[in-house]
Amino acid sequence: MSPIKIDVNDLTYKINPDLSTIDWTYVCELFDKVDWRTRVEADIELAFRRSSWTLFIYKGDQLIAFGRTIDDGRYYAILADIIVDPDFQGNGLGKYLVNTLNEKLGDNYHFVNLTAAPGKGDFYKSLGWKKQSTCYIWPQGPKQKRLHTEPDAEEPTA
Ligand SMILES: CC(C)(COP(=O)(O)OP(=O)(O)OC[C@H]1O[C@@H](n2cnc3c(N)ncnc32)[C@H](O)[C@@H]1OP(=O)(O)O)[C@@H](O)C(=O)NCCC(=O)NCCS
Repeated sequence: MSPIKIDVNDLTYKINPDLSTIDWTYVCELFDKVDWRTRVEADIELAFRRSSWTLFIYKGDQLIAFGRTIDDGRYYAILADIIVDPDFQGNGLGKYLVNTLNEKLGDNYHFVNLTAAPGKGDFYKSLGWKKQSTCYIWPQGPKQKRLHTEPDAEEPTA
C-alpha cells in the first residue's frame, strides 16, 4: 500500500509526554510493522523512561511516529528508535524526528551518534549526518555482525 499523504499541521507532536499515557502494546506493533521484531513491551517502556528526550507524533488518537535520545548530559548522546509508521512515511516525519531530537540535544556534547538501520544510511546523509570512520561495534550476534560490520571485521576475542 502506498504511504498516505497527510497535512503535517494536523498532527499532534508530543515532546517528553507523560509516558504512562503511551500505549506500549501499540508501540511494539509499530516496531513489528517496520520489522524490528525483538521489542518487549515492559522493556521498551523502561528504555523510553530512561531516555533523555522522547518524541511521539499522533494523527488524531493514532500514534504514527516516535523517536528518542539517550545521553549522559555532557559528553555522549545517541538518537534511537526513529520509527515512522510505513503507512505515513514520505511525509517528512522521519526528518522532523531526527532534526527535532538533535536540536533538543543542542551542541553541548562531544559525540552525537546513531546507528542507521541497514539501507537507511542515505536517509541520514540527506539530513547532514556523516558516516563515522572511527566507530566500532561489539556485535551482539551473527546477524548484527552481518548487517552492521564491514566484511573484514575481526572476531571478538572474548
Ligand atoms: C527511515 C524513516 C525514519 C524515514 O522516515 P520518513 O518519514 O519516511 O522520511 P522523510 O519523509 O522525513 O524523508 C526525509 C528525506 O529523507 C529521504 N529518505 C527517506 N527515506 C530514505 C531512504 N531509505 N534512503 C534515502 N533517503 C531517504 C526522503 O526522500 C526525504 O528527502 P527530501 O527531504 O529531499 O524530500 C522511515 O522509513 C522508517 O521509520 N523506517 C523504518 C525504521 C527505520 O529504519 N528507522 C531508521 C533507522 S534507525
